[in-house]
Amino acid sequence: MTTQRTVVAPAKIAGAQFVGSKQCAQCHAEVTAGFSTASHAKLAVDGAAADGTGCESCHGAGSLHVKAGGSKGTIINPQKSPETCYQCHLDKRGQFSLPYAHAISSGKMTCTECHEPHKGKAVKGTGASLHTQAESCTECHTAQKGPFIFKHNAMKEGCTACHNPHGSVNNKMLNAPDSNLCLQCHATGSSPGMLFAGGRDHAGNPVNGTCWVAGCHEAVHGSNVSHALRF
Ligand code: HEC
Ligand code: HEC
Ligand code: HEC
Ligand code: HEC
Ligand code: HEC
Ligand code: HEC
Ligand code: HEC
Repeated sequence: MTTQRTVVAPAKIAGAQFVGSKQCAQCHAEVTAGFSTASHAKLAVDGAAADGTGCESCHGAGSLHVKAGGSKGTIINPQKSPETCYQCHLDKRGQFSLPYAHAISSGKMTCTECHEPHKGKAVKGTGASLHTQAESCTECHTAQKGPFIFKHNAMKEGCTACHNPHGSVNNKMLNAPDSNLCLQCHATGSSPGMLFAGGRDHAGNPVNGTCWVAGCHEAVHGSNVSHALRF
């Protein structure tokens, strides 16, 4: 996955100047307390050049907000809008416009359901957190949570081994539409007509669909009845 490294381009509020993150701490101690650990805080610089690289890189210049004692509407509150994030993460706008994606574009979901702007690793479930990346997905997708008697060890790599949560051209946001999804881990040797996967010769199997069609490995996330994840 590639990350676009872009120039810091903070949001603009007409007539406002940057005041620096220290100012925000006076009134928003609960937000600023953990900010030093945040992925985005690591992008902030010190000294005179610091302006606009801390809190204000997402919230916009804060002088009018501070002068007003913090009244509503004087600073950018991203709330449900991804626009703040798109300023710097240009590539994500395109990904969320793909045919299969989480409902960011319609405003039904937000980036902050999976990302933490204010503390710790921006990708929820990574870093020092006890919570895993998969657990942040299974909070909503309980059917994939398990526990399963027969686990699919692919799940240890996280859901992103097979899905791109930002969007995909493939149904179910899959990284590949076909058997290649599975062969990235299971190709132990294959040539036309002869395919070994999972240590078993699949040459005699009908090749008329994906590995996860009904009757094959339908229970791709884990199964309670079949070690081969058939149902
Ligand atoms: C003098 C105290 C004070 C300072 C300094 C201050 N704020 Fe606020 N801020 C507030 C108050 C009070 C509110 C709540 C306003 C309300 O709900 O009516 C608020 C609201 C906000 C909101 C939500 C705004 C909205 O329209 O919904 C954001 C975002 C915010 N502050 C960010 C910041 C940032 C970033 C800084 C530093 C640049 C900052 N604040 C500095 C007092 C302050
Ligand atoms: C990476 C972008 C980003 C940075 C940097 C950032 N914020 Fe935020 N902030 C957001 C988003 C997105 C929301 C709204 C979603 C949410 O509540 O989680 C938000 C919400 C807020 C709110 C709450 C507004 C409300 O509706 O109650 C306050 C206050 C705030 N931020 C202050 C700060 C302060 C202070 C800093 C610096 C210590 C900061 N933010 C840094 C993205 C950011
Ligand atoms: C002012 C520019 C800017 C804004 C606004 C911004 N980001 Fe970032 N973000 C960055 C940069 C730069 C990086 C580091 C990318 C790199 O390492 O190449 C980053 C990294 C990230 C990462 C990866 C962190 C990691 O630990 O690997 C995530 C996730 C992320 N941003 C999400 C968001 C979300 C969600 C928002 C909106 C709430 C947002 N960003 C707003 C500039 C920004
Ligand atoms: C359904 C959950 C989910 C949503 C919603 C989501 N992300 Fe992510 N994002 C992830 C996961 C998981 C990763 C880590 C991917 C990995 O490690 O392979 C990630 C990684 C990133 C990264 C760093 C790596 C990269 O792909 O560039 C950025 C930047 C990012 N997200 C930005 C955003 C922005 C901006 C939004 C909203 C427009 C958003 N994300 C919405 C789950 C989500
Ligand atoms: C805040 C709740 C929420 C979180 C967190 C979340 N999702 Fe989703 N996801 C949804 C909703 C809502 C849909 C669309 C409705 C549906 O089909 O279930 C969806 C759809 C999907 C789909 C397509 C389902 C289909 O039938 O087409 C996949 C795959 C998926 N999400 C994977 C993930 C992954 C991977 C993560 C973690 C990186 C994640 N989701 C995090 C709410 C969430
Ligand atoms: C080994 C690859 C793989 C991994 C890892 C994986 N998935 Fe899937 N997932 C699939 C495939 C393949 C489908 C399509 C199943 C179908 O169409 O019958 C799917 C479908 C889904 C769906 C749509 C509902 C359904 O059953 O059709 C959701 C939601 C989903 N996955 C969420 C997740 C979550 C959450 C994780 C991590 C906890 C995860 N997946 C990990 C391969 C994977
Ligand atoms: C990220 C790597 C990875 C991906 C991708 C992956 N698997 Fe797996 N899979 C594993 C691991 C690791 C095991 C456990 C060790 C083994 O049996 O090879 C496993 C085991 C299995 C088993 C159980 C074998 C048995 O008899 O116990 C089946 C069936 C299976 N995978 C099917 C699939 C299918 C179908 C896909 C594609 C949708 C897929 N796998 C994608 C890593 C992966």
